[in-house]
Amino acid sequence: MDKLVMIPGPTPVARSIQDQMGREIQAFGDPRFVADYKEVIAALGRLLNCSGKTFVIPGTGTLAMEMALANITRAGDPVLIISHGYFGDRFVEICQRKGLDCDVLTCEWGEIVPLDRIEAQLAAKPYAVVTVTHVDTSTGVCAPLEAIGELMQGYPDTLLIVDGVCATGAEREDFDQMGIDILFTGTQKAFGVCPGMLMLWASEKALQKRLALGSIPEYYVDFQNWMPIMADPGKYFSTPAINLVWALKESLRLIDQQGLEARYAWHQKNAAAVHQAMTALGFSILANPGYRAVTLSNLIYPEGMADQDFRARLYIEGVVVAGGLGPYAGRLFRLGHMGHITSDHMVRAIAAIERTMAYFGKLPQPGMALGTYLSAMMAPSRVA
Ligand SMILES: Cc1ncc(COP(=O)(O)O)c(C=O)c1O
Repeated sequence: MDKLVMIPGPTPVARSIQDQMGREIQAFGDPRFVADYKEVIAALGRLLNCSGKTFVIPGTGTLAMEMALANITRAGDPVLIISHGYFGDRFVEICQRKGLDCDVLTCEWGEIVPLDRIEAQLAAKPYAVVTVTHVDTSTGVCAPLEAIGELMQGYPDTLLIVDGVCATGAEREDFDQMGIDILFTGTQKAFGVCPGMLMLWASEKALQKRLALGSIPEYYVDFQNWMPIMADPGKYFSTPAINLVWALKESLRLIDQQGLEARYAWHQKNAAAVHQAMTALGFSILANPGYRAVTLSNLIYPEGMADQDFRARLYIEGVVVAGGLGPYAGRLFRLGHMGHITSDHMVRAIAAIERTMAYFGKLPQPGMALGTYLSAMMAPSRVA
């Protein structure tokens, strides 16, 4: 059996999605592929209730961050970055390179920037854009997106960019209702596909802003270059990732089969069960209760457990997890639980974690975490 990949994206890719990756290639102008591409673009717009435009192009989350800023800002524009960790901070670097005038609101890792601080900052300066990372993968903190969106209704000239890379498809998002102007993610995260494509949703307001900018310096990520292709994928601008489009189509079919609400509910239940199970083993969770993501857990080691030793042994036990970032490098590990994963994946991962703890003489009772996880998953759901 190969290693079980439980990093915060990519996570295990469902067999039926892998099969799409292995299909015989078709020309990107083949009417069969054009119909598939068109269907994927439309389905993604419906999935997140976006009445604007959806872009599905080759690239990753970082490219999507650049794409978002490129199309609605010009050098010198004031941008407010709400950062809950490493990926929030990545916006700072991108903004600085683009010559944007950026202000950053930060907080202790594991906490959220309080809404009143955001409100005070918005009232103090007219921003062109606010950026927020829905789930910051470095901290496992889920931003209060709905409340931020509500707050921003008082600032109609300020556009809201949401990094949904570690959230979209697992954390609840409603593009139109939440007042989002640009949202993006990558195929390798909660859609459970291999890495290689980005998905980006843009509001009518964002598209108008792009038009008002006239010519922009960026070429590949320019909305104007992709709009005709998204409307008619039979046209050419840059080569589509054909097999990834098919893989994403299959992922959307699986999401549809599960139902989006059921998917959100499963992720919530699963994350809470994982948190209980890992707490039973002596780990603590970096993100404060109330702001914990459902897509991953950032688990601080119990006293005396060394990161390198733990992860090296866990690898031998068959499971790959990710290390901590920034100030938490060496202090925690990150367990991804997004994509098309099931309780079976979780049980395998938790069992390997127990074996690893036992190897280091730190498991008082075999089955402690497994039992806790299973009990929590078998309890009746609070969410319908
Ligand atoms: C929240 C968040 N934003 C952006 C990125 C960057 O995405 P990518 O690695 O696909 O460029 C990541 C990657 O993990 C992420 O977790």
